Amino acid sequence: MSSYPYPIKIRAVWWREEDKSICWINTKELPFKEEIICSSDPGRVAKAIIEMEIRGAPAIGVAAALAVASYANKVKTRDIDSFYREVDSAINILWNTRPTAHNLFWALRRMRKKLHEAVEKGVSIDEVVQILENEAKHIMDEDIRANIGLGEYGAELVPDNSTILTHCNAGALATAAFGTAEGIMRVAWYKGKKIKVIATETRPVLQGARLTVWELVKEGIPVTLITDNMAGYVIRKGLVDLVIVGADRITSEGYVVNKIGTYMIALAAKRKGIPFYVAAPTSTIDLESTINDIVIEERNPDEVRKVLGKPITLPDVPALNYAFDITDPDLVTAIITEKGVVKPPYRENLPKILKNN
Ligand code: MRU
Repeated sequence: MSSYPYPIKIRAVWWREEDKSICWINTKELPFKEEIICSSDPGRVAKAIIEMEIRGAPAIGVAAALAVASYANKVKTRDIDSFYREVDSAINILWNTRPTAHNLFWALRRMRKKLHEAVEKGVSIDEVVQILENEAKHIMDEDIRANIGLGEYGAELVPDNSTILTHCNAGALATAAFGTAEGIMRVAWYKGKKIKVIATETRPVLQGARLTVWELVKEGIPVTLITDNMAGYVIRKGLVDLVIVGADRITSEGYVVNKIGTYMIALAAKRKGIPFYVAAPTSTIDLESTINDIVIEERNPDEVRKVLGKPITLPDVPALNYAFDITDPDLVTAIITEKGVVKPPYRENLPKILKNN
């Protein structure tokens, strides 16, 4: 792919040209082990998404697109109808992995559209494969460029010498590369702003403690870890100048779906009067959806009953494991996208920004 204006130090998912496979860093093992896995099997990539080896809204969208392209390269049949059916069923497997993040469905719809159009046109199987490969590579490249673009817009909003609180991991490890919330931190840092970051540990999967800390330490950006339940107090104490988080889905009214715990941080930020920014590529915004369409993923309660696989309570106690929550539009100071910064009222301003090229 062509070059980017900032260094790309960490990639969550990428294309391996030698065998036309998709590779990813297994984020479940970080920060203790940097394990790389490659595959062309949509079932294996689906498992990686469900089990969160690959996670983060943009990363799962990019991974799903690359998995479709990789599989299309491996389909043996020379019959176009069978080829169509096989690739389409791979899309279905990837579709049914995680229900909340919009990027997954956005990316798979793009791949399905290309498949459908190419087959309708009557081009050869080899040409369809090339079209799918090009589209998946575009989706990956667009994601990196979107992150850099929103990083530029967001960095303008970050004061010098400020402390940013972030939740979960909206970094390179949650995207193809560079990150959304962390993308803003990176651009601010590269431009010489002396920022500090407070990262919440993000129970139960610990994306903050394991991933955000790992990423920011690699980048040299000062980071301090807190438990999730400290967020309110550190905001109240005046230790935070602004909050920047990512998003899994943004509805037409401006409801922000993000990692469980985001809502509590937004409430505390509002009460204290500090900005609460959401960083997201436009692929996360679903103007077709309203709050009533949001599906909040419920994961295995064992993730709550254990920490890193070790039991922390009685084995059979009922536990809730909502993976995401919903933040009301009036708590969101602005949504930072690659097309610009969107301010309230979101119902009016989100469609305007999506129209921009
Ligand atoms: O369950 P996860 O780890 O996939 O949740 C990730 C988040 O909630 C991120 O904040 C979101 O996907 C934005 S990532 C740029």
